[in-house]
Amino acid sequence: MVERVEVSVSTPYPVVVGEDLDLAGSISEALEPGAAFVLTDSNVGPRHARSVARDLEEGGWRVLDVIEIPAGESSKSLKVYGDVVGRLAASGLTRDGTLFALGGGVVGDLGGFAAATYMRGISFVALPTTLLAMVDSSVGGKVGVDLPEGKNLAGAFLRPRVVVADLKRLETLPDRELSCGLAEVIKMGLLAGGDYFEDLGQVDDARSRDADALRTLVLDSVRFKADVVADDELETGRRAILNYGHTIGHALEAAADYALLHGEVISAGMVAAAHLSREKLGTDLVELHQNLLWSAGLPTKAPAADPDQILVAMGRDKKRRSGDGPAHRFVLLEDIGRPVWGVPVTDDEARQAIEAII
Ligand SMILES: NC(=O)c1ccc[n+]([C@@H]2O[C@H](COP(=O)([O-])OP(=O)(O)OC[C@H]3O[C@@H](n4cnc5c(N)ncnc54)[C@H](O)[C@@H]3O)[C@@H](O)[C@H]2O)c1
Ligand SMILES: [Zn+2]
Repeated sequence: MVERVEVSVSTPYPVVVGEDLDLAGSISEALEPGAAFVLTDSNVGPRHARSVARDLEEGGWRVLDVIEIPAGESSKSLKVYGDVVGRLAASGLTRDGTLFALGGGVVGDLGGFAAATYMRGISFVALPTTLLAMVDSSVGGKVGVDLPEGKNLAGAFLRPRVVVADLKRLETLPDRELSCGLAEVIKMGLLAGGDYFEDLGQVDDARSRDADALRTLVLDSVRFKADVVADDELETGRRAILNYGHTIGHALEAAADYALLHGEVISAGMVAAAHLSREKLGTDLVELHQNLLWSAGLPTKAPAADPDQILVAMGRDKKRRSGDGPAHRFVLLEDIGRPVWGVPVTDDEARQAIEAII
């Protein structure tokens, strides 16, 4: 079964979701075959790059080069970005060429940034291979790299021509990475409420790689994120809700020196946000959060982190608005499906929420 979700921004693009998809066919409505460049990483490349290159060639594409970057966040750097655009130039890719990013969020963010800037912009196709990339990072157009000073500090907005999420590729994804994708799935289900929230009952099955549960939850997430992005692409308002759990989560990530995976810190960060929601808005969703996150195999506590260090790291979160006073700004839940954003939180309140998850 193939589903297409339209992301209705100024230049709309489809997200194609299915299993064992015909790649060239899936993109043919959006793009004429031409010169292609495939970017992947050292885990995904050996498993999936050959079949992608073959499918493209059979569909009339000319694959000029397949470049494999080392797997991991450290590749989302200016150095690797420079290597990639250098290889694009060396391969002779022209302005009418297309960059295919085959991988998780790292390959997607880096590849998107390369595509947005090489010759002031070439066509970009995202082929997400992690659950996180399928449900979150490949939809919405944010691309970029990290700087030594912080994550995602250099970037751009780039609309892909098409996103192809082939669920079959998840078969080789390690369990821990699958759980991390489920953290973002749970986040959006809590924000969305309604049928999507009901579908979170299938998280357990998705974790065991049940194909129907995965398809349902990927589609729910893509539809929800597409709706939020269509509403507020450049994040001047409502898109901020997608940072639910991320204020403390990002700080935990930095304080733990990136030893924890993103989904794991977001999981603990959402529990902290649930504590804050209870204190400030009077809705107790803490146990509900814990049960959902446990069903995804995620931690709900952060190992012995230092609250002071986390508070300092929160001060550096780039999502803070310049000119903000001492208060932090949080996304909290008034109820399931009723997020509020920009809620001011004092250092003391934040500290209590952090202590609750240590
Ligand atoms: N642009 C956005 O809107 C957005 C949103 C959320 C996250 N992100 C970014 O995404 C990144 C995290 O993404 P991620 O979790 O996908 O990380 P990732 O790209 O590092 O992938 C996680 C790991 O899984 C491996 N892998 C990927 N697909 C595989 C497969 N099918 N089989 C076997 N191994 C596979 C990778 O090699 C890597 O080791 C972060 O840099 C984050 O900042 C961006
Ligand atoms: Zn996230």
